[in-house]
Amino acid sequence: MFESLKALSPDPILGLIADFSRDENPDKIDLGVGVYKDETGVTPIMAAVKKAEQICHQAEQTKAYMGPAGVPEFNDSIRQLIFGDGHPVLKNQRVSTVLTPGGCGALRVGAEFLLHCAETVTVWVSDPTWANHIPLLGNAGLTLVQYPYYDQQSSQLRFDEMLSTLAGAKAGDVVLLHGCCHNPCGADLNEEQWQALTSLAEKNGFLPFIDLAYQGFGRGLDEDAYGVRLMAERLPELVVASSCSKNFGLYRERVGSLSIMGEQSHHGEAAVTHINNVVRGNYSMPPSHGGAIVGTILQDSALRESWMSELETMRNRINNLRRLLVDKLHAGGASRDFSFIAEQYGMFYFLGISPEQVRRLRDGYGIYMVDSSRINVAGVSQANVDYLTKAIVETIRT
Ligand SMILES: Cc1ncc(COP(=O)(O)O)c(C=O)c1O
Repeated sequence: MFESLKALSPDPILGLIADFSRDENPDKIDLGVGVYKDETGVTPIMAAVKKAEQICHQAEQTKAYMGPAGVPEFNDSIRQLIFGDGHPVLKNQRVSTVLTPGGCGALRVGAEFLLHCAETVTVWVSDPTWANHIPLLGNAGLTLVQYPYYDQQSSQLRFDEMLSTLAGAKAGDVVLLHGCCHNPCGADLNEEQWQALTSLAEKNGFLPFIDLAYQGFGRGLDEDAYGVRLMAERLPELVVASSCSKNFGLYRERVGSLSIMGEQSHHGEAAVTHINNVVRGNYSMPPSHGGAIVGTILQDSALRESWMSELETMRNRINNLRRLLVDKLHAGGASRDFSFIAEQYGMFYFLGISPEQVRRLRDGYGIYMVDSSRINVAGVSQANVDYLTKAIVETIRT
């Protein structure tokens, strides 16, 4: 059975991690892997998480199954975090939420759920989009088509083209949107653009599926949910996948959520029966540890405050690094305008250099990024920013 298997080429990010760890350059910098790192290069466990873990450890009475929808306290509190306390759709109980194994789990379960709603589903994804969106949705059986989103040459959003292309999306189609902190390009829709897109969805009847993997990493917890909350207010239906990997630092605990908003409360309730069915046929039950931690933090005012302030520190670090990079690149005599970096949000941006220049940065300076020149800003620190910006300026000069 297995003898005919040919080994697949390594995942580009995993290959990059391996190359980076083998590199003996003492100045090497990893800008590839998509996790938050602090000034010392560590992906920290948040203090609020540590505290909540202790509370959960004390309180836990059993390890029996929780059921396919996961931890109810988590589902209630994450729904409020995403949609905002007092949002009319929550008051009207139009949103049903389940805990999923990470944002990836939410995207995959969401995709399979959509195939319970229709035999074939076309989903429009941004060009570019996060690489894993393609297998997560495509392997589930959805048909993927692209809409223009970002131009790497000019480092600008292609909003007019996006809108005119999506004018071709019809009722029954799904449009995948990044709620904030677009991965990989960092260019987000502004409020007016969200409004224009919502009007188009209202007119054409397509279903937005929002991937909210970085709430709190861009402008703030509420600001980053602007698009979700607006669409929830104006549209009859919505699907939202969220992740607690980044904003709670719970990467390996695998905790995220899938929310289905229907026109009336019984639609969401019926949707959950289908989601439970999808979950039973996949992993049967989600893990509960991460959900219990998040639920505990969000339901305890002191822990919530502490978590919000840690999240703010992370957000400020990223946004300050973006400004610092622009200043250093320009002060170093960069032959190109990099101001766009400070106008974008989240951990990622495209440097906008060729694969050949990416290779020269790696071989000549020990600076590692994926071939598309997507950079994880959190890999930058006060200690390496001068080395990094000098290397970039020298590399793009030739
Ligand atoms: C755009 C996007 N969506 C979803 C995810 C899912 O993350 P996880 O499954 O680790 O929660 C990520 C993680 O990098 C992401 O960048």
